[in-house]
Amino acid sequence: MRTEPEILSPDETSFLVRQRVARLATADAGGNPHAIPVCFAYTPGAVYIALDEKPKGVPPTQLKRVRNIVENPGVALIADRYDEDWSLLAYVMVRGRAELVEPDIEEHASAVRLLRGKYHQYERMRIEENPVIAIRPERVVSWGALDEPDARPQVLDTVRGRRSVRRYVDKEVSPDLVDKVLEAARWAPSPHGRQPWRFAVITGRQTKERLADAMGEEWRSNLEMDGQDTEIVEKRLEGSRRRLLDAPVLVLLCLYLEDLDEYPDAERQESEITMAVQSLGAAAQNALLAAYDLGLDAGWMCAPLFCPKEVTEALELDPTLVPHALLTLGYAEGDPPKRRSRKPLEELIILRA
Ligand SMILES: Cc1cc2nc3c(=O)[nH]c(=O)nc-3n(C[C@H](O)[C@H](O)[C@H](O)COP(=O)(O)O)c2cc1C
Repeated sequence: MRTEPEILSPDETSFLVRQRVARLATADAGGNPHAIPVCFAYTPGAVYIALDEKPKGVPPTQLKRVRNIVENPGVALIADRYDEDWSLLAYVMVRGRAELVEPDIEEHASAVRLLRGKYHQYERMRIEENPVIAIRPERVVSWGALDEPDARPQVLDTVRGRRSVRRYVDKEVSPDLVDKVLEAARWAPSPHGRQPWRFAVITGRQTKERLADAMGEEWRSNLEMDGQDTEIVEKRLEGSRRRLLDAPVLVLLCLYLEDLDEYPDAERQESEITMAVQSLGAAAQNALLAAYDLGLDAGWMCAPLFCPKEVTEALELDPTLVPHALLTLGYAEGDPPKRRSRKPLEELIILRA
């Protein structure tokens, strides 16, 4: 147990800012305790808690926690980690004085920014119209394995478990699952946060056929140009067509460059586009990992990159969109026969300075 006046240590700070929920304890003038779970944001000198519009039945200022703070500003906030492996247990408790920061005060705007930055749900709530609770930390108590990483190994399991699937069983994917996959893509890192990608979701047989026909034509002429044997050309084309038609869902990832920064020189402009492409890759990987996590399987087809014009025409897309990749989504017919191994890490890390 560590007790320290006023200031959170680096370990306590990093533990606290990783937590999504804490418990706020207040008491009325008579000392009757009241504790509730809260979403919070921390910045040195203050813990902020929004008074949001979740259905509460009473105006925010009538909430018990608010009435208690007005009567008795002494509060405690505790954030903790529970794990069946008790070597990972930890908590940070902040004691201090709470006050209401009203919307017309400058601090209110920065508190709302912090809260919205941490919880995307607040983006759609009018928390800026209500006061924000600010706790001024005066005393901190902490205990346990604060510096153990929170992320359980599941992320790595998902990363290692995901694999490219090229054949699916005939089973529909619920639109809700597709939205969840795209929600993961939406949260990919992107240059300047501009999200330079858009998604087309294709499930209809006719649309798939139009797409397969358009891409097939272009591929045929490329393969013929490469001097490939006619029989092999036909076989490869048929395989690719089947892949498109048999996948329950196709997601076309398009690059969207209209929101990017513009530079006077070609070199920086090119880097800007490269960043957008890198970000599209991150969005694709987010989608693939989310799909695997949701019990779906997925594959990546690069074909649209080689015939963007044909894809745009077939799907009647806006010309500002550049088709880049197709993700197939569905349920795997079996374990994929082609599982590529990976180079050892030591071969990939070329410098440890
Ligand atoms: C940019 C990119 C393009 C790809 N294009 C195709 C493709 O057109 N067809 C295909 O079957 N797989 C494609 N893949 C999947 C790779 O072949 C696959 O990721 C790789 O073999 C490793 O296998 P795994 O994904 O099962 O780990 C592509 C992957 C990437 C990153």
